[in-house]
Amino acid sequence: MSGGAFDPVARVFVPEAAGTTVRLRGWLSKSRSSGGILFLLLRDRTGSVQVTGKRDVLGDAAFDAATHVQVEGVVAVEGTVHSDPRAPGQREVRAGAITVLHAGEPFPIMADQTEEFRLDKRHLVIRSADHVATFRVKAEVLRALREFLDQEEVLETTPPILSGNAAEGGAEAFQIDYFGRPGYLSQTAQLYLEALLVPNERVYALTPSFRAEKSRTPRHLTEYQHLEVELAWCDLAELLAFEERMVEYVCHAVGRRRPHELTQLGRPPEELLAITAPFPRLRYADAIDRLSAQGFPVQWGSDLATAEERALTLESHTPIFITHFPRELKAFYMLRSEDDPRTVEAADLLAPEGYGEMVGGSCRETDLGRLTERLKETGAPLEEYEWYLDLRRHGSVPHAGFGLGVERILRWMLRREHIRETTPFPRTPSRHTP
Ligand code: 4AD
Ligand code: MG
Repeated sequence: MSGGAFDPVARVFVPEAAGTTVRLRGWLSKSRSSGGILFLLLRDRTGSVQVTGKRDVLGDAAFDAATHVQVEGVVAVEGTVHSDPRAPGQREVRAGAITVLHAGEPFPIMADQTEEFRLDKRHLVIRSADHVATFRVKAEVLRALREFLDQEEVLETTPPILSGNAAEGGAEAFQIDYFGRPGYLSQTAQLYLEALLVPNERVYALTPSFRAEKSRTPRHLTEYQHLEVELAWCDLAELLAFEERMVEYVCHAVGRRRPHELTQLGRPPEELLAITAPFPRLRYADAIDRLSAQGFPVQWGSDLATAEERALTLESHTPIFITHFPRELKAFYMLRSEDDPRTVEAADLLAPEGYGEMVGGSCRETDLGRLTERLKETGAPLEEYEWYLDLRRHGSVPHAGFGLGVERILRWMLRREHIRETTPFPRTPSRHTP
């Protein structure tokens, strides 16, 4: 084969391609030979195509070499495009030449292997069609989030991941040895975003967050992608309006731009295009009433566990906000409600159909005295928060913010059973390799 550019596999499927010569290169998803004919399924980033090669066309040496290429081996092909109703996509490339670029070793991934084995071989398993589709949708979610925030004039910032204090109470923070002193991996960028807020008024960060929770649930990772936003001059109503517009924007962008991947993964794109703001708002107190009427053993002050969140959203096709939680259930920095001092100006956004919390947000306490008092109640070491308290000493303004778990929203959007399917190399209590 002489030099020159290669064609993307997708080129084979455009109507005008029939009868033309193409030059392709890529990986073999399948390979078999019978009666002097080789059948290959060749894949590149744009698609897959059936390639056939005949011994009498290729010559004995080239035919034998091509026959020995393993699944996931790499070849270059020059051939002509034929319409063939039996081939996938009704097109086939008949090879005039096949060059082996990497024959490879026998591919260890096969059907019906255990989930543990597949997790051990995750670096190879992520080539599967479902994983490829999933991570393309994830890229679209990230792009849409950034696009929306850019349109809303929210500035992207880069808070640290390593810190000398554990932001939201140390219990769930991973501790590391920082040159002989304790260090922590970030659980949230919020406190840093509140500092970056003052000169910029609207800031966000997309960072990994780490949670040392031993919870083996289908919605907990120990490392996840966290999108956090902090907005000045924002009350709870404005915060929820911002969140729901953002979720709607992401659903619509993904529905429009990744219809094939969604369909392949069993999620009709129309369902995401049908997600429209406003989303229902339900006060915590009313949620408790509704749940106890359904027989759940809950009362004022009970945390909403997975089963309760599920019951509240099982019948719903749109996300639901739960607002005004008892302040004991929530973090120290949340603003006390004016009309009911037992509650805070906070809201969780629950995904439909029992997929659980996707976003947690609140208005922040701006008053130095009340914030200090709440910190003391939680037993936090005050000296670690001195820098944060400075923010209430210099130019303190009303503000609010939220954190969205990227894998949580993706799990719902793609209706994945387990959150680990939404990230290429999942970190869970039982696994941090490969
Ligand atoms: O509700 P959380 O803990 O809130 C905070 O960290 C706030 N400081 C955020 C803020 O206001 N800036 O976490 C926010 C979101 C949750 O709603 C959930 O979507 C996701 O982060 N999340 C997780 N995702 C995957 N695995 C875990 N273990 C998660 N824990 C939280
Ligand atoms: Mg939360």
